[in-house]
Amino acid sequence: MLSYEDLQQGLEAAGQTHILQFWSELSEEERGSFLQELSQLDLKGLKDHCEGAQRAAESPPESLDQHIEPVPAGSIGSVRKSDRKGLREWEDEGLLQISQNRVGVLLLAGGQGTRLGVQYPKGMYNVGLPSGKTLYQIQAERIHRVQQLAERRHGSRCTVPWYIMTSEFTLTPTQKFFQENNHFGLKPSDVIMFEQRMIPAVTFEGKVILQGKGKIAMAPDGNGGLYQALVDNAVLEDMKKRGVEYLHVYCVDNILVKMADPVFVGFCVSRGADCGAKVVEKACPAEPVGVVCRVQGVTQVVEYSEIKPETAELREPGGELVFRAGNICNHFFTRSFLQDVAEKFKDQLKQHVALKKVPFVDLCGNQVKPTKPNGIKMEKFVFDVFPFSRNFVAFEVLREDEFSPLKNADGAPSDSPTTARNSLLNQHCRWAVAAGATLTDEQGNNVPASTSVSAGDVPPARCEISPLVSYFGEDLDQMLRGRTLQSPFILDEKKARELQAQ
Ligand code: UD1
Repeated sequence: MLSYEDLQQGLEAAGQTHILQFWSELSEEERGSFLQELSQLDLKGLKDHCEGAQRAAESPPESLDQHIEPVPAGSIGSVRKSDRKGLREWEDEGLLQISQNRVGVLLLAGGQGTRLGVQYPKGMYNVGLPSGKTLYQIQAERIHRVQQLAERRHGSRCTVPWYIMTSEFTLTPTQKFFQENNHFGLKPSDVIMFEQRMIPAVTFEGKVILQGKGKIAMAPDGNGGLYQALVDNAVLEDMKKRGVEYLHVYCVDNILVKMADPVFVGFCVSRGADCGAKVVEKACPAEPVGVVCRVQGVTQVVEYSEIKPETAELREPGGELVFRAGNICNHFFTRSFLQDVAEKFKDQLKQHVALKKVPFVDLCGNQVKPTKPNGIKMEKFVFDVFPFSRNFVAFEVLREDEFSPLKNADGAPSDSPTTARNSLLNQHCRWAVAAGATLTDEQGNNVPASTSVSAGDVPPARCEISPLVSYFGEDLDQMLRGRTLQSPFILDEKKARELQAQ
């Protein structure tokens, strides 16, 4: 820990002595924890950070709209446009890699989930499924199942390690939640949590914001903080030790996420890709998803906040959006690509500016909750490494099967707990019907099979299939053919055994 004198010197060099303006009012204990917090600041880089943030807010980067073009359709793999045989081959390849312990998953879970408005990490959210499962539990069970499928197809026991990037806000509650839930049956040593860095929020004048008299306003450095965090926490070494060569990186909130998706992994591996992204067709021009596109010939993602509405609204003669390859924050990386990023490129990542309302103490020490943006947060984005890739591929998947994120609180028209729950139940209704079951409502009346592809649609029945029983609709025929499933119906492992025994 730094001494007060060292700290004062460091802050002076960075032009940030105001940080200590309330020092004399702090208790011994408050001073101790403030010193500890400030000791973790990169004092040498602080001046650059503050000046950089101020400059970036004053002169936003030139809009990319003039230079962007869609990714040529031919260079995007697609579930819809592939036949069963092709999909099966990719799946086989993916399961082979998994069976050889060469695949890991990495969850980006350092965000604060401000839009959803809960005080705990988003993965702990229960969207109201009949089973009451949280997002974390669903993800853990999909890991179990994909390991099992790989083992069955290729005959070797295997592990898909689960790396979880958290932040100061999410680490402790996430750790506690996993412990309380016995790591959902996964081996604790195969669930590796680590923390990304935090950086100070800065005023438009380039001054670090004091959130309290003895506390500065810190925020995680964006999900692109991943690459620094991989280095800080020796994650790549851990991957190497385990023989993990491929990583499926995903964001926490998509209830339909296919963990270590063998089809996606298999597609990327068979194309020799070092970097890949799953996309879905954008639902509408204003949908808050980034678009995978090319900027001056280089593939990258342009984030929804950085594209002009008139560009997002451009359409092809046939009516399709020109920029329709919506990024669903599911990425594929080889370990060697990540190693390159860590060694050569991570400091070249773009900084994105977000103007936020950051609570602060004023000069008189009063707590103020601003009504308009007063602070600059700088963030890195996970996809900003795409331009460094030597062989990037995009893979288009079906929205109704793979993308229904939880971003907003209930009441919002999209991306809410209700739409997430409906998407999952609709998918499971489709699987049950495809397996030959008939669905009924609570009163026992037959209901039509779900053809719903829209997340908002109410499912025909409350039919939920545990990921421990089926990862993506497989293995259900034998259990469900010819059966009538009355709502609410939960197919868990116990029920599956009963049905198989009948
Ligand atoms: C993200 C994508 C967007 C995509 C959309 C799909 C980024 C930068 N944007 O947008 O292109 O269309 O998902 O749903 O990837 N996180 C951290 N640390 C942070 C900030 C965020 O780990 O400092 C994690 C979050 O916990 C979350 C993920 O990154 O799991 C995505 O973050 P979020 O802020 O929700 O991104 P979106 O704006 O939804």
